[in-house]
Amino acid sequence: GETQEYWLSVQTGECHPDGYSRTCMTFNGTIPGPTIFANWGDDLVIHVTNNMKDNGTAVHWHGLHMRDNSLNDGVPGVTQCGIAPGETQTYRFKVTQYGSTWYHSHFSLQYAEGLFGGMIFNGPASENYDVDLGNLFLSDWGHTEAFHLWSTTARFGGPPALDTGLINGTNTWSCPTAPDSRCVDGGKKHELIFEEDTKYLIRLVNPAIDAVWDFSIDGHTLTVIAQDLVPIKPYTTNSVQISMGQRYDVIVQAKPTTKTDDGNYWLRAGLIGGCGGRNDHPENITGIVRYNKDSTAEPTSTGYPLSTSCRGEPLASLEPWLELNVTNIFNTTQQNLGFLPQGSGRDWFQWTLNTSSLHLNWSDPTLGQVFRGAAIFPTPYNVVAVQPSNSGEKEWQVLVIQDQTPIGADHPIHLHGHDFWILAAEPGITFNGNTSTWNTHNPSRRDVAVLPGRGYLAIAFELDNPGAWLVHCHIAWHASQGLSLEFVESQSRIRSGLLDRDVDEFERVCRSWHAWPQ
Ligand code: C2O
Repeated sequence: GETQEYWLSVQTGECHPDGYSRTCMTFNGTIPGPTIFANWGDDLVIHVTNNMKDNGTAVHWHGLHMRDNSLNDGVPGVTQCGIAPGETQTYRFKVTQYGSTWYHSHFSLQYAEGLFGGMIFNGPASENYDVDLGNLFLSDWGHTEAFHLWSTTARFGGPPALDTGLINGTNTWSCPTAPDSRCVDGGKKHELIFEEDTKYLIRLVNPAIDAVWDFSIDGHTLTVIAQDLVPIKPYTTNSVQISMGQRYDVIVQAKPTTKTDDGNYWLRAGLIGGCGGRNDHPENITGIVRYNKDSTAEPTSTGYPLSTSCRGEPLASLEPWLELNVTNIFNTTQQNLGFLPQGSGRDWFQWTLNTSSLHLNWSDPTLGQVFRGAAIFPTPYNVVAVQPSNSGEKEWQVLVIQDQTPIGADHPIHLHGHDFWILAAEPGITFNGNTSTWNTHNPSRRDVAVLPGRGYLAIAFELDNPGAWLVHCHIAWHASQGLSLEFVESQSRIRSGLLDRDVDEFERVCRSWHAWPQ
């Protein structure tokens, strides 16, 4: 492999992705940020400079295993201190997976303000295509900054509705009839240009903070070839439901159209209520597929019936191409999801797992505690120690999350440092300890799975990666409300697997964080 080097500047500035002006946070001035390309087996060196004046930051490379490399996972409070204003942190890791993913700030709600971008790692695909169209980001978007929404409403409970959504950082917005100085122009829809008889690869990413989408292109079908960073046996569908943090690679076969056919089709991301997101979002978001690049006409195509209910993942269709079974369940932890409403000493609504919430300490991350040999356990918050028996066999840790709340919303659950195998995802029922219905034969394998409302999710991951790894709901508000826990895996082997160079970088970033007068 070769070494690929990138420079990312985290900065604030005015932006108007849908024609409506506000303050954003960006990587290098664009939403999404620059795409990071590499080949399978390359090394990546990414320099992240915090050019904001009054905010820390940290960048997470979503879905990457970071084998024996948890220092580069980018989670403030777990794997690093915040990067202080004016400071640069260099992240270094090997590209051991291939396919489509994304990076985003893992510092509080920053990615809701625009701090996300794509990562594309070339490698084998389970079906051929002609043209790679790259990432297609389906994001939700507010005209008010997420940090403002947090302090005024979100922290107290039910999430606020965002105004709209963006496709690859662009959309239209109808300005109100009364003059509004923030309405600079009407914005623009994202357009894809198709040529007849061509097979296109589209790498869907949902970086939304609170929206589940049903993605489709009118008049076309989608052949799904990968979920997250895992190639699957191709299957064809009219639409793909995609939850937060998830990715799907889809191949779209262009029509054998003729030059006289204007051929404009809506590309749609329909908002699905009840899937964790709100169902009163003001509009479904659209882009345009054109066969004639000079056309400016609005499509008149009709869409597939939009799914109005949350149907979770089609687990039976999501069969990994490389077949792997779960053979040796070593340990199971059950975590019951609840919440504590605002009040009696709590100034915000908190989600709980086994009655406690995760609180991250940006000044004293878990890995620093591991390096000093501090006692991490027991803790007043959600840290779970896991350790294989070193039997020489592969050993799987199982996490069962049981939703014990009456809320009924789904939660997209993300695990760092591993792919996991989805053993069960059952809506509306309480897990009774019977594991005989669990699927251990080549189950769906990925890095974000949906916990169905009032039901349970059972996932298994291999204990093969010493480090401190977060598990959390990828609804941004919920993560900020503590819906998170941390696995400290094979604690005694963490330090020996790490490079001194990376430990030095960790210490340096922490020193400048401590020196920053917050
Ligand atoms: Cu995509 Cu913990 O994050």
